[in-house]
Amino acid sequence: MAGVEMFINIRRIHKYQCAQLLTTGLLLSVVMVCWEPLDHHVVSHLVSYSYRYLVNSYDFLGSGGRRPGPTGGEAAGYPYLINHPWKCVSEDGKGWEDVLLLLFVKSSPENFERRQAIRDTWGDEGFVSAQLGVNVRLAFAVGVHPDARRRSRVQRALLREDQVHKDLIQQNFVDTFHNLTTKLLLQFHWSQMYCPRARFLMSADDDVFVHTPNLVQYLLRLSSTQAGARNLWVGHVHKGAPPVRRRTNKYHVPYDLYPWPSYPDYTAGAGYVVSADVAAKIYRATLLLDPSMYIDDVFMGMCAQAMGVSPREHAYFSGQGKAPYHPCIYDHMITSHGHADDVRSLWRKVTDRSAHGSPRGLLGNLYCLAVRAMLLCLPNHQKTYSCRAAFT
Ligand SMILES: *[C@@H]1O[C@H](CO)[C@@H](O)[C@H](O)[C@H]1NC(C)=O
Repeated sequence: MAGVEMFINIRRIHKYQCAQLLTTGLLLSVVMVCWEPLDHHVVSHLVSYSYRYLVNSYDFLGSGGRRPGPTGGEAAGYPYLINHPWKCVSEDGKGWEDVLLLLFVKSSPENFERRQAIRDTWGDEGFVSAQLGVNVRLAFAVGVHPDARRRSRVQRALLREDQVHKDLIQQNFVDTFHNLTTKLLLQFHWSQMYCPRARFLMSADDDVFVHTPNLVQYLLRLSSTQAGARNLWVGHVHKGAPPVRRRTNKYHVPYDLYPWPSYPDYTAGAGYVVSADVAAKIYRATLLLDPSMYIDDVFMGMCAQAMGVSPREHAYFSGQGKAPYHPCIYDHMITSHGHADDVRSLWRKVTDRSAHGSPRGLLGNLYCLAVRAMLLCLPNHQKTYSCRAAFT
């Protein structure tokens, strides 16, 4: 009897072990099949994140990391084709206007309609001064059209557009993806030269929606404290992001351009704000650093890092992706990315609300909290803002 029982036990154990072996094998092969994408995404992020502290404390300026190329000071020297040197000068021409915010929008020559939508909505200087009682200045940074055959026709249209609106700032460089850092240099050099007293500078894409009333309120609140208006660089922060090494990717960066496994922390280029002192520091860094890093927001991160400035996360600055359309979101949002056709309708909704903007009361606030938690924390929604944003 005992012998038979043992025999059965052994067979059971065998069966059990077999199953275990099989599952392990299966798991291993799944891991092996998925290894490459896993490797790219998880591992490279893990590696880069562990390098983050090193890179963030690395001295780009002092390290002789400069290559023999031109510095940003030289590269920013493209002549202006369209300029408005008096944009920030007071009406009597004797001094600087008290400008709270200079809104620099990165545009491309052919994006006439996007620029018009921005002028009519969130970039409307008149609306801001009438409704919010502060001065903002709107300017579009553009280069020249990359297609030589269409260039002169587009250029004539740009000049006509600028005669009406007087808000284009154009330098003589080809407006391409790989010249985005040149456009960044334009913004910081122009601001330093022609609008140095603006208390804040925002850089934004032309497919971004900015909730100007919320942004102005946020900046005014910061300005009212001693430290708040200084040392500010706020946006959607990328922490310890790894450079993309796959050649097929748009953001591919070869090792000789950037050898380290992680970028310094930087804010998404879709929209971020810096205070005047930070803008001046970035300007100084661009004079010394090699601007061949063509991803403009990463280059901005390198400049800031060299000057000891680190970015501050704000839950309602978006990276990729649109904010969910809901009044409970509009109350808080600052930027939202990926808008072209819906800027006007969104602006109507947003300003409607602020016109009748009465406090919601306890129940209303609870309702909004629940709605935001649903919109931002459920996994099926695109990640514009983090789940944390629902509770701030
Ligand atoms: C940037 O613009 C300059 C000046 O027009 C041009 O010579 C250069 O080729 C452009 N760079 C890229 C990568 O497009």
